[in-house]
Amino acid sequence: MSMFNEKVMDHFMNPRNAGEMENPDAVGSFGSPVCGDMMEIALKIENDVIVDAKFRTFGCGSAIASSSVATEMIKGKTLEEALAYTNQNFVDELGGLPAPKVHCSMLAEQAIRLAIYNYAQEHGLTLKGLEGFDPNQEMDACHVHHE
Ligand code: FES
Repeated sequence: MSMFNEKVMDHFMNPRNAGEMENPDAVGSFGSPVCGDMMEIALKIENDVIVDAKFRTFGCGSAIASSSVATEMIKGKTLEEALAYTNQNFVDELGGLPAPKVHCSMLAEQAIRLAIYNYAQEHGLTLKGLEGFDPNQEMDACHVHHE
């Protein structure tokens, strides 16, 4: 028996939105201090709506599965709607991850936030959800999110 449910396995085996994006409007990459893995999220943005999202990762299967659902979930959403998602939303959408793997879903959350932060900086936008966001923060937030 796998410790992962079928939906997680499906997104791991057939990840949605994996790969490189040509001419993205925003990119965010985040490295996990827990495991050392990396995630990069690239976005296409039109009128403050995310019209496309892609990810590339050196992360594990759980990082792949959570980024796969995360990119699906943020497509078609406004930047502020996307900022409202936490890694727990991605884990819930997957139907759960084993507790030791929950931190892997933080890579997607943080890389998405960073991409949107970079975009907001570049375009002089003030977005709800970015107040107090520290682009250099470490990932201790993951202990808060999954308790
Ligand atoms: Fe590093 Fe999962 S163990 S992302």
